[in-house]
Amino acid sequence: MYILFEGIDTCGKSTQIEMIDKAFEDVILTKEPGGTNFGIKAREILLEDSLASKRAELLLFLADRAEHYHQIVKNNKHKLIVSDRGFLSGIGYALANDDFEFEHLIALNKFALEDDYPNLIILFITNMETLKERMGAKELDGIEQRGLDYLISVQTHMQSSLKKLNIPYLLVDATDSIENIHTVISQKIKSLL
Ligand code: TMP
Repeated sequence: MYILFEGIDTCGKSTQIEMIDKAFEDVILTKEPGGTNFGIKAREILLEDSLASKRAELLLFLADRAEHYHQIVKNNKHKLIVSDRGFLSGIGYALANDDFEFEHLIALNKFALEDDYPNLIILFITNMETLKERMGAKELDGIEQRGLDYLISVQTHMQSSLKKLNIPYLLVDATDSIENIHTVISQKIKSLL
């Protein structure tokens, strides 16, 4: 089973992923970008936010996704694969970056994923107040430096895209307590195993 943890920066995904890793056996923890050797190099370039062309950026994220699918996901779907981000970030960030067409993004992502979608997407939803508070307390990478309004618009695109896709999903209130969120997520995962 291939599960994506999705949401904008500082929404609490990483904490919840660590908790799922402890609560379940034999979890394969991975991430995009950066889940493969190629991905580690791609991630360095991507987080610098130094590419002038948003198309070049999109294609590098997609190359990371294709390599990640081929190396990590494809042969391990009988295990529990938990990925910190995946193609919903690919669509949400791309739609906030430029006037890419939704259908075009879907086609490109399906190509990268060999037409094999994740089994579940868990999307964390935060609000401006919490985002402001949490972003103020950390050092920002190049993408995060695009600003709070940008991140909220990414979240809006992620949420509306998710509703258009025919993939099981769970929306999580990122402002809820860590324990409550963990309970909701582990119940959902248990129901699918
Ligand atoms: P993170 O792994 O520390 O969250 O950083 C990854 C950054 O890359 C984050 O700002 C979201 C962004 N991103 C995209 O813009 N497009 C994508 O396809 C993915 C997977 C991530």
